[in-house]
Amino acid sequence: MYNAALFLHNYCTYHSVSTRIEQELSSPDALRVYETEYFEQALMQTHHRKTTVALHTLGVAAVSLRLYYVLARLGMDLDKKCLVRAALCHDLGILGRDEKFDSTLECYTRHPLCSADTAKVVFPDLDGKTENCILCHMFPLTGKAPQYTEGAVLILADKYCAIAENIEAMIHRA
Ligand SMILES: [Fe+2]
Ligand SMILES: [Fe+2]
Repeated sequence: MYNAALFLHNYCTYHSVSTRIEQELSSPDALRVYETEYFEQALMQTHHRKTTVALHTLGVAAVSLRLYYVLARLGMDLDKKCLVRAALCHDLGILGRDEKFDSTLECYTRHPLCSADTAKVVFPDLDGKTENCILCHMFPLTGKAPQYTEGAVLILADKYCAIAENIEAMIHRA
């Protein structure tokens, strides 16, 4: 049976994630996401050529937290709970993409809406800021700009991970 805590620990060890960020990725909010059927499905769905939605999600959450700490040192007080929730839920709406969406364009534009809906199932108390971060994470592709700095951080982390994952896949292409 899938063991969320062990999976997370193995991920953090393999990617040399700092102890502080591993602890943040093991928060009660984070564990709630890993223990959903959505995340188990995310472990199985390929994303960005050679990774999975689950691994991409953890990467985006780890990079978002790294940016959070960098910005905190610069005096910016961002909402860490919002960032973790948004990062861990931002792509859950892409699960089942082949059955759910008719085209790549539709997937790009609609999966943030589906992710926000899923996030509200996982976190019934989801606030408007976190919802906005999830809804706008595809900016500028969708033209819906985020209203909060946390949303901009999520966009940066998501784009960074997506580019890195695609380059990695190209380098290791058979
Ligand atoms: Fe996405
Ligand atoms: Fe993403």
